[in-house]
Amino acid sequence: MLTSRAGSASHRNLKCQMISSDELKKQAALAALEQVEDGMKLGLGSGSTANHFIRGLGARVRGGLSVVGVPSSERTAELARAEGVPLATLEELPHLDLTIDGADELDSRLRLIKGGGGALLREKIVAAASSRMIVIADGSKLVETLGAFPLPIEVNHFGIGATTAAIADTARRLDMPASLTRRLAADGSPFVTDGGHAIIDASFGLIRDPEALSLALAAIPGVVEHGLFIGLASAAVIARPEGISWLVA
Ligand code: 5RP
Repeated sequence: MLTSRAGSASHRNLKCQMISSDELKKQAALAALEQVEDGMKLGLGSGSTANHFIRGLGARVRGGLSVVGVPSSERTAELARAEGVPLATLEELPHLDLTIDGADELDSRLRLIKGGGGALLREKIVAAASSRMIVIADGSKLVETLGAFPLPIEVNHFGIGATTAAIADTARRLDMPASLTRRLAADGSPFVTDGGHAIIDASFGLIRDPEALSLALAAIPGVVEHGLFIGLASAAVIARPEGISWLVA
């Protein structure tokens, strides 16, 4: 437990307020790191929470731990290399023991929205190749119903207008609102994923039936992958100012 040892409730509250979300992400990452064992083949997620995990993993590797990681993005590969974590590809290692990754949202049934960093396609491939996936997150990511975070949808550039219209039609059929925005990079140019695709950020409102939406989106030609991860996560470590908790499937 991470609860303060300070005596008064007001002192405890003050300390809770002072823990940043980045510090909570780090606490979740380090708690998940305890699940890593010598000899494991690991899927390495992407994003600021996953980066904390990779830095912690690097420290353990420098201390003698023997693992190999498959990165889910070019940025993750770069950080893992800098940390001295040995890397491989899914061609070399098609089956992984454990993937550790962040999420943009998760619910109590371990259904996730991912792709805020634009790495959802490789993240999903790596997670699906793993026996277990542990999600690491600060408490703000755990929601009752998915959907406040716009769902990232990775699409092929060819026919992007038709694909966008088909996503809007799908939402109408499922009786959901849809506000669809093409993601831009920091310099204002269209965002391009590691796989060379575009991302459409889709605000559907609250997603009451993630399974139905997932199947419907996956059936649209031009949709390469979407950020609903269903049935992939086996556990989640949630860090809140009051302490760490685990959600298990
Ligand atoms: C990247 C992701 C990330 O896991 C997600 O965006 C969470 O990011 P962060 O850990 O920075 O909050 O899906 O594609």
